[in-house]
Amino acid sequence: MRQDKELSKVDPEVASAIRKEIERERDCLVMIASENYASRAVLEAQANIMTNKYAEGYPSKRYYGGCEYVDLVEALAIGRAKRLFNVDYVNVQPHSGSQANMAVYMSLLHPGDVILGMDLTHGGHLTHGSKASFSGKLFRSVSYGLNPSTQTIDLDQVRDLAKKHMPRMIVVGASAYPRKIDFKGFRDIAREAGAYLMADIAHIAGLVAVGLHPTPVGMADLITSTTHKTLRGPRGGLILSGAEHAKAIDKGIFPGIQGGPLMHVIAAKAVCFQEALQPDFREYQEQVIINAKILADEMMGFGYNLVSGGTDNHLILIDLTSKGITGLEAEIALGMAGIYVNKNTVPFDKNNPQVTSGLRIGTPALSTRGMKEQEMKLIAGLINRVLENISDENIINNTRSAVKELCSRFPIYDFIH
Ligand SMILES: Cc1ncc(COP(=O)(O)O)c(C=O)c1O
Repeated sequence: MRQDKELSKVDPEVASAIRKEIERERDCLVMIASENYASRAVLEAQANIMTNKYAEGYPSKRYYGGCEYVDLVEALAIGRAKRLFNVDYVNVQPHSGSQANMAVYMSLLHPGDVILGMDLTHGGHLTHGSKASFSGKLFRSVSYGLNPSTQTIDLDQVRDLAKKHMPRMIVVGASAYPRKIDFKGFRDIAREAGAYLMADIAHIAGLVAVGLHPTPVGMADLITSTTHKTLRGPRGGLILSGAEHAKAIDKGIFPGIQGGPLMHVIAAKAVCFQEALQPDFREYQEQVIINAKILADEMMGFGYNLVSGGTDNHLILIDLTSKGITGLEAEIALGMAGIYVNKNTVPFDKNNPQVTSGLRIGTPALSTRGMKEQEMKLIAGLINRVLENISDENIINNTRSAVKELCSRFPIYDFIH
């Protein structure tokens, strides 16, 4: 594939790094739960001339001239996202999931207000109140975690914390949680506490869009998401709500925390939403879940402990403690074999976040490649072989060849060979 003629001439170093990245994504198993392969149409839409355009403001209310065509794509993106999620208000301008969360907090809260979110080490996201993030620095954050015996969200604990701390906002949503989330249970607790409820569906947005995970619409006051995980669009963020918050969120994004929107990315978001409205998107999401279940069963069959004992969604979380290896060691060995996963803390982890005792493994990207049950079984075997022989170079090299052969049967794009 040589579509980078000009880039190769002007900047051979960047062109070469991109070509190597293409080979990596083509020849390896991308099992990072938050990654996916955007379609060729999404890539083409994103690599467009609208990157040149300043469009501060919103369609028909811009601070710059010449916005007629970017208005068209933003209106398309908004209309499609409204249909996809069945909501009255959508803001497609957040540059990322973190920006979407920041905009919601800055729109509805005051610095120093209490937010109640899921603990980072139990599967929450940095922006849900971690002290390392703006969310834990600007706001007084309190965290809930998983029940130690079921390893699932403990609504009794959430209710107790809400009663004790009277948060202004409760945040529900996760980066590493393999089970369905009970948005209604959270809604009831938020009502009792007089708190806003924000649902961050960054990971599960694709499943929610097709009805394979309960929707937070009608339960949460505000919903945020990324567009690049199970939703399979360009890298970016999204905010959904009822019409009552439209003004505050629009202002919260611009001029609140962002300047000009990334109009080329918004064009690609419009394409992503259009794709997600098609019937085959539901089939894709069904396969994502089937693949995760097969992977879970196979890994448990090899004697691995899974947090919560399985999965309802697109990811599994393996607790490696009983295997005597750390998440870091496992991530490195699997990476050498061409299998990309990420180390992850498990609930009540004794290792620090740079080491961890767990591995998070997801199926969205492999399912996009067309891999199904049979391939999941094969891959589980490969993962087990590496983890059982973590310092055996021969086995790692042989596995890498098997991975490459498997990948060659499932091309990532028809224009990349
Ligand atoms: C639940 C959740 N929210 C927000 C984000 C942040 O998204 P971004 O990386 O686009 O800022 C992530 C990213 O992993 C996430 O998992």
